[in-house]
Formats: sequence, C-alpha cells, structure tokens
Amino acid sequence: MNYFYNPVRTYEGEGTIELLSDVINSMNLSSKRVLIIGWCEKVLENNAFLKLSQTGCEVRSIAFTASNPTVEQLFEVYENTKDFAPDVVVAVGGGSIMDVGKSLCCLYGKDIDNVDMLREVIADKKFLGPAAKWIGIPTTAGTGSEVTCWATIWDPQKNAKRSIEDSENYAYAALVDPDLAKAMPVKLAVSSALDAAAHAVESYWAKRTNCASRAFALHAIKTIMGNIDSLLKGEEKSHEFMAQGSMLAGMAFSNTRTTACHSISYPLTMHYNIPHGAAVSMLLAPVLKMNAESIDGIEALLDALGVKDADMLKERIESILKQSGQPVSLKEWGVKENDLDMLAKQGITKGRADNNPIEITEEKVKSILESIY
Ligand SMILES: [Fe+2]
Repeated sequence: MNYFYNPVRTYEGEGTIELLSDVINSMNLSSKRVLIIGWCEKVLENNAFLKLSQTGCEVRSIAFTASNPTVEQLFEVYENTKDFAPDVVVAVGGGSIMDVGKSLCCLYGKDIDNVDMLREVIADKKFLGPAAKWIGIPTTAGTGSEVTCWATIWDPQKNAKRSIEDSENYAYAALVDPDLAKAMPVKLAVSSALDAAAHAVESYWAKRTNCASRAFALHAIKTIMGNIDSLLKGEEKSHEFMAQGSMLAGMAFSNTRTTACHSISYPLTMHYNIPHGAAVSMLLAPVLKMNAESIDGIEALLDALGVKDADMLKERIESILKQSGQPVSLKEWGVKENDLDMLAKQGITKGRADNNPIEITEEKVKSILESIY
C-alpha cells in the first residue's frame, strides 16, 4: 500500500544556517553534544557553528572530504567519534556527507569492532533505531539527502553498493540555505539540478507513487526546469530556486524512490565516471518515451517539464548539458560500443528497475543506451 510519511522540519532561504542554534535548542536535549561533519575545513569556520559553543553545546567538528563514502571510511569516522557519543550530528555538505552523518546516527551505541562487523550490521539492518538525531545542511542543490532516510555506502572491496536505511532516521531538521550552494561551479550546479529534476520525474511515475509525492514532484520540476536557464547564466537568484526544487524533489522521492533512469545510470557512473546528474538526465527522455503510455497524468508532467513530448525533452536536456560544457552522448563520454551489452545487463538494479511503471528488460535497456550513444 503506497503512503506518504516525512517528518523533517524544513527551513529554507538565505541565511537559514544562522537558525542552527535555535533549532538545536528546540530539541529539548538533556545534554547537547554536537558533532559537526563538514565537506571541508573551510565550511566548519561558519559563524553559525562557532556560535553553538556559546549556547551551551559541547561541539566537535570534523572534515570528511571524500565523495562516495566507503565502509572503511565510515568505520574510521565512527571509531574516531563514538566515544564523544553525540546527541546531534550536523552534516554540512553534499549527499556523501549527509549519507555519512545519518549513517553514524544508526551506528552509535553498538559495539562495532571492525569493518567486517560493520558490514554485518548493515547487511542485517539491525539498527534498532538511531542513537542520535541529525540535521542536514546541504551545500549542493541536487541529492535531496537532507529529507530522505537512507544512505548509500560503497564497498568496492566486495564490489557492492550498500544501503543504511531506517524510517526512524529522518533528519530532525533540514536547513536549506541557497547561499551555501553559490560556490558550486556551473557544471556541478547544472548536473546537480538535473539529478534533482530526475528524482521528481521518476517519483511522479514510480510504482510507489502517491498523491503527495506527485504534488511535490510537479512543483519541483517546474521550479528547476523553469529556472535552469537562469542558473546557466550565473544569475544569483537561481540558487534559491534550485535549493527549493531539490528539497521538494527530495520530499517527493523520499517515499517513492527512483526508477529506470537511476537504475540504468549506475553502471555508467561506475565504469565511465559520468557525473551522476548528467548520466541520469540523458536517460530521462528515452525512459519517458518507453514509459509514456503507463504514466498517469502525463500531460501535467510534460507541462511541468515545459515540453510537448519525449523528443522535445531530449533536445532540451542536450541543450542544457551543452551550455554547461558537458557531453550529450555516451560516445562523447568515452563509452565503448562493445560495452553496451554489459551496461544493459548491469543497468537493471534491484529496487529501482522493478519500481518502474513498466517492466524493463536487458533488450529495452540496450535499445535505450543505443538511442543516446
Ligand atoms: Fe540521483
């Protein structure tokens, strides 16, 4: 049975980061040990974090600079911070940082002595509820991780992608401050925005969709696609729209998850380092074409995207990618034609492919890949 549940308090707008100490005070904690985990040393110098010590919090700050966190890296942060036993983890950065921050909340209070034990805890999903609360402060506008309850942790040694998820582990609050995303280079900003648009589009047609997700999704798509030209021109105001759109898209897919576009994109990123947002966005039009007859309310979706059909969407996405200096075909990204069979096989990911409104097969994935080759 599909339903919608998302308890995250969302604060948005320029300067929202300044609300952090008030938000922590509103949590009514008996002790206030706060771990701040930031994507770089510089971000930890923000005045909002310095202010916390003056308001009765015991603060510890660490930088976590890796992207796509591994089980080994997660274990290292857990080892270094478990004795501090934070009541609140504040994660400041992109999806990787928020994934580490929310994962830690599920691990504290458990005796995990080594990486293999951590693998077991993740595999058995024996989290028994998080031991700390977390607050997400995104510095990119794309992943929506600040409003989802799952985290992706990579395990290259075992050739696996692991998921730490617990419906009790939604953030206490998300502070979505567009000022923090202004430093992003255009290429990354556009790629992140297209990822967010894909979250919303896929949420709209997912098998697990529901009316609340669909409402969030349409608004997110309009906000992102209606203002992405302004982002390409480097207009300041665009960051506010992208921050809002990304958060709304996160709300939408927090309950539906993604579908074929994300499923097919993972091996493209894994084998060819195609940025996630670019990979997913190239797949939007061909997957829209494949799903078209099964999409309930397709007119509203096309209207939100600002296109008449899948062909027009393909042109629009290609134009956006080109303007941001990114290739628009698999060939240009360096994909070898001989690899298409392997990519088609690996493009069927459990939990994503089977959430698509129509069944996808290796043959269908291969033909989609050929259409963007
Ligand atoms: Fe994504």
